[in-house]
Amino acid sequence: MLLHVENLRKIYGTKYNPTVALDGIDFFVDEGEFVGIMGASGSGKSTLLNCISTIDMPSEGKIVLDGKDVSKLKDSETAAFRRNNLGFIFQESKLLDTLTVEENIFLPLTIQRKQYDIHNKVKKIVEQLGIDDILMKFPYEISGGQKQRCAAARAIIANPKLILADEPTGALDSAAANSLMLTLEKLNKTNLSTILLVTHDPISASFTNRVLFLKDGKIFHEIMKGEKNNIDFYNDIVNVLSFLGGRGN
Ligand SMILES: Nc1ncnc2c1ncn2[C@@H]1O[C@H](COP(=O)(O)OP(=O)(O)OP(=O)(O)O)[C@@H](O)[C@H]1O
Ligand SMILES: [Mg+2]
Repeated sequence: MLLHVENLRKIYGTKYNPTVALDGIDFFVDEGEFVGIMGASGSGKSTLLNCISTIDMPSEGKIVLDGKDVSKLKDSETAAFRRNNLGFIFQESKLLDTLTVEENIFLPLTIQRKQYDIHNKVKKIVEQLGIDDILMKFPYEISGGQKQRCAAARAIIANPKLILADEPTGALDSAAANSLMLTLEKLNKTNLSTILLVTHDPISASFTNRVLFLKDGKIFHEIMKGEKNNIDFYNDIVNVLSFLGGRGN
């Protein structure tokens, strides 16, 4: 087991005007899993990811990643923890405009000062992601989909234990979204990367192996892909979503 989230609660606001964003979340993720998180706007998906990534502090409960209780980390420890254990891909993943694509991808290693054979490592990853021909370009010279694949490369370059992706396909057209999802699927299958993916898009979710559905800060339902293909799993996902919607979010 890589990640254990136990009775997680997050309450924003004041005692007299609270917003319960997470209301007792429990789940496990094994190493090598690819897990989707879905749910209506405001159901707590980003809050959950932000708590796991130590960007936000839970009000109650525990998050244990690789045996370490991340909710107990001191403020001074969180930056190093994130750098050493996590990879991030967001809806609008920011690349640094003054650096080339290659320099952007190298960045986490530069910060970690690890003495890898970095060039070989980058070469393998960018080939996998199909961005080997744009390494010398600057972010303003490449497309949104290429930017997201660069962000994916940057997220995995330091071999994180867990990749956290919050709506990474949200700003992409369907072709670019598909290509990014194929990329994540490949990372999961060939590099055995463990991925948590928040998405509104049932097509993106159909690439994962398991989907957790949040409703009002609770896990409302969970479905497994099993031996199904993407289309059958997509249909399962859409069914649950229509049920969620039908219950009046
Ligand atoms: N920093 C904050 N301060 C106060 N309330 C917040 C804060 N962040 C989130 N919330 C509230 O917590 C609830 C969950 O928000 P969250 O961002 O996790 O939803 P989400 O599922 O990611 O939604 P979306 O799909 O729109 O991104 C919402 O009611 C939101 O208004
Ligand atoms: Mg969100």
